[in-house]
Amino acid sequence: MLIPNFVQVTYYSGTRGGTGKTTLAVNTALALPQSLGGRVVLVDLGVDSTDRASRLLGVDSSIPGATDFLMGDVNDVDQIIARSAYLPNSVFVVPPGRYRSYQVIYTDVSVRRILDRWLYMVSAIAMRTRARAILVDLPAQPPQNLLIPVLVASHIINLVMEYSSDVEDVLREIDDEYVKVLAIKVSKVVNVILNKAFPGVDNQEARIRNYAHGGAVITVPMVPEVHFATAVKLKPAILLEPKGQLGAFRKAVDNVVKTITRQVRSILG
Ligand SMILES: Nc1ncnc2c1ncn2[C@@H]1O[C@H](COP(=O)(O)OP(=O)(O)OP(=O)(O)O)[C@@H](O)[C@H]1O
Ligand SMILES: [Mg+2]
Repeated sequence: MLIPNFVQVTYYSGTRGGTGKTTLAVNTALALPQSLGGRVVLVDLGVDSTDRASRLLGVDSSIPGATDFLMGDVNDVDQIIARSAYLPNSVFVVPPGRYRSYQVIYTDVSVRRILDRWLYMVSAIAMRTRARAILVDLPAQPPQNLLIPVLVASHIINLVMEYSSDVEDVLREIDDEYVKVLAIKVSKVVNVILNKAFPGVDNQEARIRNYAHGGAVITVPMVPEVHFATAVKLKPAILLEPKGQLGAFRKAVDNVVKTITRQVRSILG
């Protein structure tokens, strides 16, 4: 089998919004370089002006970004790579670019063409930054012609779910529509991250094991300080003083990072 020289790790939640993809992508991006012993790029696909991953990492999201490259307006990856304000030598950010979802949908650019551009873009970014891991933060309900290429190109998919009674229904939908179908082409690792969990309420882990193909189920607790950090202070939670329950969040992030590190190492051979 062909061994890649970088690994694409995608954060996805199907049709559900606000599950914590961006929060976890940003916090793991900052903790991964040390654990992995290498550089990391976060591709922020928060189209439709959320741009939160870029802003959390202190990057001006009005510069050209991923969608400009994918649509063919930009051909030089140097124009879309920025350095994170934190760990600027090991964490890089690609902002979403100027296209909105409806424009991506209506541009008439085929899945095949976007997949070609995507593969070209991520390998050029990896080469340029010498990153070993490219994290991709998808929005909720991304345009299909963007979603399919991103999932096809992923080596690891982190399904970020909000701890809720219907979590199994959401996972089943993603599994039937995407994971089973796309996994035929490339063998992938799928982790399920149960975010915003209330410890001791219900052990949902056992019930959703089947959706973590070759991967892990990881629970991340609901911590109000995380919401405060992300939404109010616009700062990655793991960088704050570990007050209140932040220590518990940090521990869960470390768990995610340890898991990704192990999986990335095994894929890179
Ligand atoms: N473990 C947690 N505990 C408490 N709040 C959390 C936790 N994880 C995320 N949040 C909060 O939930 C809100 C949504 O998180 P986030 O923006 O990361 O979700 P998302 O899945 O990226 O959303 P979207 O689908 O809109 O891209 C944010 O205010 C964030 O601070
Ligand atoms: Mg998001």
